[in-house]
Parts: sequence; structure tokens; C-alpha cells
Amino acid sequence: MIRLGVLISGGGSNLQAIIDAIVVGTLDAEIVTVISNKEDAFGLERARKSGIRAVFVDPATFDSASDYNIALRDELQAQEVEYVVMAGYMKLLGVEVLDAYPTRVLNLHPALLPSFPGAQGINDALEYGVKVTGITVHFADEVFDRGPIIAQTAVEVFEDDTVDSLAERIHQAEHKLYPKVLQWIAQEKLVVEGRRVHVRR
Ligand code: GRF
Repeated sequence: MIRLGVLISGGGSNLQAIIDAIVVGTLDAEIVTVISNKEDAFGLERARKSGIRAVFVDPATFDSASDYNIALRDELQAQEVEYVVMAGYMKLLGVEVLDAYPTRVLNLHPALLPSFPGAQGINDALEYGVKVTGITVHFADEVFDRGPIIAQTAVEVFEDDTVDSLAERIHQAEHKLYPKVLQWIAQEKLVVEGRRVHVRR
């Protein structure tokens, strides 16, 4: 049973997928805190509805990004979080947190990295005209969308796709893959060798 701290900024559909996987027993984990940098993030409500601690940490109340990240780290450590799970957290995570959780911070990106990093991965892939895009789960480091890749799923781009229709299939793939990767971690199946992450079968 691993103790997760989930960072969000918005809707939290991936948070919900993780909660659901825990409830049905396909993920041996406990979410001990959900932290949002946005007060109105619907994910906070999802957490509270499931009886999970949900906190809004307001970046505007800190003098510096560093102080804000120290507050995040303090909350994670106070709840004895073992793995930090970014699920639609739209802010760069500071070294204050990353250094406290080496190869223990995960991020989810809605494109096949290293293609289309950044906040508009779905839109950028569609506009570029790729025929296949997808999703990436990776360990986070101090550069957006760069850390070692754990798992990816390809998602085909259809002729008549809009950002919304493509986003829907991207999200479906995310909701399957993220809980699965977390279960690999719970089962200690991941071996990290530099940039290469191996999954023991
Ligand atoms: C996901 O598409 C994820 O890849 C990206 O932000 C989105 C979050 O969606 N980083 P949700 O808040 O989990 O619904």
C-alpha cells in the first residue's frame, strides 16, 4: 500500500480514475492528500466527496515560488506521502519538492513525449497534423515534460477529429494508464536506469 499525494489544478478526472481504481481494488494505494493551486478546482470536490483530505494552497499568498513549493513539500511530508502524483497540475513543480522526492514524482502528459510538450499538447499535435498522438506517464524533473518515461499509449488521430473529440479519447487512455502505472509502483515493478525505466513482469 503506497501513500499518494495528488497535485491538481482543475477537473480532476484522472484523480477520479485513481480513486476509482483504489475503490475497486486494482490499485493498492491510499490518497492521503490532494493539493490544488486553484481554489475552484473541481478535483478538490471530488476528493472531499470521497473523504480524502483536500487542500488549496494559494501561490499568491507566498513571497516567492520557492516559499510556495516549500509549503507544498511541508504538506506532503506532514501527510507522510511516499509518491507525488501530478494529475493536471498546470504549474512547474519546484526543486523544493523534487529534491524531497527523487524519482518519486510522476507526471501525466497528453501527448507522446518528447513531441508536443507544454500546456497545449493535444491541440499542438492536432494542429501539427500527426496521425498518431497519445499519452505519456513520466517521472518529473525540473524541466516541464522532460523526465524519464515510464509508459506511453498511442492514440490514433481520426480525419474528422476536433480538439474535443481527440481530447476525449486521450482522457480515456489516461484514465486506464495512470492507475496501472501506479500499481506497478505499488508492486515495486519499476527499475530506473538513467533515462530508461524498466517494468519487471
Ligand atoms: C490531462 O489531460 C493531463 O494529461 C494534463 O492535464 C489533464 C488533466 O485532466 N496534464 P484532469 O484534471 O485529470 O481531468
